[in-house]
Parts: sequence; structure tokens; C-alpha cells
Amino acid sequence: MRYLIAGNWKMNGSLASARTLAQGLADRRELTAKADIALCPPAPLLPAIAAAVAGSAVAFGGQDCHAAEKGAHTGDISAWLLKDLGCSFVIVGHSERRADHFETDAIVKAKASAALKAGLTPIVCVGETEAEREGGKTSAVISRQMAGSLPEASTAANTVIAYEPVWAIGTGKTATTDDIAAVHAQVRDLFAAARGNAGALRILYGGSVKGANAASILATAGVNGALVGGASLDLEDFARIILACP
Ligand code: PGA
Repeated sequence: MRYLIAGNWKMNGSLASARTLAQGLADRRELTAKADIALCPPAPLLPAIAAAVAGSAVAFGGQDCHAAEKGAHTGDISAWLLKDLGCSFVIVGHSERRADHFETDAIVKAKASAALKAGLTPIVCVGETEAEREGGKTSAVISRQMAGSLPEASTAANTVIAYEPVWAIGTGKTATTDDIAAVHAQVRDLFAAARGNAGALRILYGGSVKGANAASILATAGVNGALVGGASLDLEDFARIILACP
């Protein structure tokens, strides 16, 4: 299974930085030889990214989509428009969307379903907060999010799951490799129980992945890639993560 390293730029980047970073990745063929790479910039930068990576294997995607195909939803972006712009992926259910925009599991499921219908691969995010981990609720939270956020049409081939402990995002803290392995195994078991086959399911880890810690995280059992926030804004650090794939 090829690793997937996805960069989530969040609300960062400019036209100039997008061009430089995407071009820099596309120019280094040793990176796309090593892993599948996807850039998820703020939506207005998608056409610039598309132009910069044209002819390379670098893919790109949205950070969110609406569940509807079109309509009166000011400020929202449909999965179909993302597809039209050349996207392959869309992140749904990121903890920042769940927290800042009150997205429930049902909303995340509807968005993931729209992504599949539009021909995109949803990267469905799950993960516990610090209070939930300290309260011993990690496994229950992951079970609830997996049961509630995945559309019926999800298969190991058309969906990616990202495990992102909320307390590890942007904090410099990472889960231990034992904790990561345990949650990834749980995610794979839950997916297999619901969908029959999870052998080929790509499960990414996210939360303060950097060049310096990528090798041990990516070598952890059950980890098939990373969803990278802050470090994906720096070409050299992002490249180091890609090259750390086993
Ligand atoms: P981080 O973000 O790498 O900056 O912790 C990861 C994410 O939120 O996807």
C-alpha cells in the first residue's frame, strides 16, 4: 500500500507561497516516487496549485465541502466544484470544523457522502480531545465518530481515515506510537466490521507531525500516511516527512 502524505494548510498561505511550494514539490520527482502527496490549501488557491503541479503526480484537495451539489449556501463550496477544479481529495470532519462550525457526525457523514458522489476521496477525520483521553473515553469517542461519520458507500478503496488526537494538533505534542497503533487498529477493526474489508484502508495519523518525528510515526503499525498541518507550509520540512515514509 502506498503511503499518503496530505498537507492541510488551514487558513494559511498566499498566491505566491502556494505557487512556490507546489512547484517545489512537483519538481522533486523523488518525493512523488516515495509516496502519494496531496495539498489541501485554502480553496481560492486551488487553481494556482493545479497549474503548478500539472504534469506531476502531486494531487490536491479541499479542506471541507458542503453536502449539497449546489444551491443557496453562501460561502460554502460543493464537492462537485472541487472535482471540477481537479481535486482528488477533500478533508471532512476536521476537529477545527467540528469545533468552530458545530459539525456533528451526521453532518460529516453527509459531506463525505457528497464527496464520494462527486468522485472525490474523502479524508474523514476522527480523534479525541484531551479531556476525553484523560477520562478514558478515547475508544468510545472513536467508535462513535466512526459509526456516525462514515457513509454507507465508503469502502477501503474510496475513503481515507485520519486519526488526529485533538490535543496533538498544532501543539507540538504527539501521541505515543503505542497509542497511535492502538487507535489505528481500532479504526481498522471498526471499518472491517462495518464494511467487510479494511486491509487496503489508508489510515493517516495527524497531530504535530514534523520532519523530526515522522520516521517513527510512519513506521508505526497500522499507519499508512500522515495529515500534516503546520509542517506542510514549509517545503523542506514537508519533503522530509515524505522521504521518511518506510
Ligand atoms: P498540525 O495539524 O500538523 O499543525 O498539528 C494537523 C491537522 O490539523 O491536520
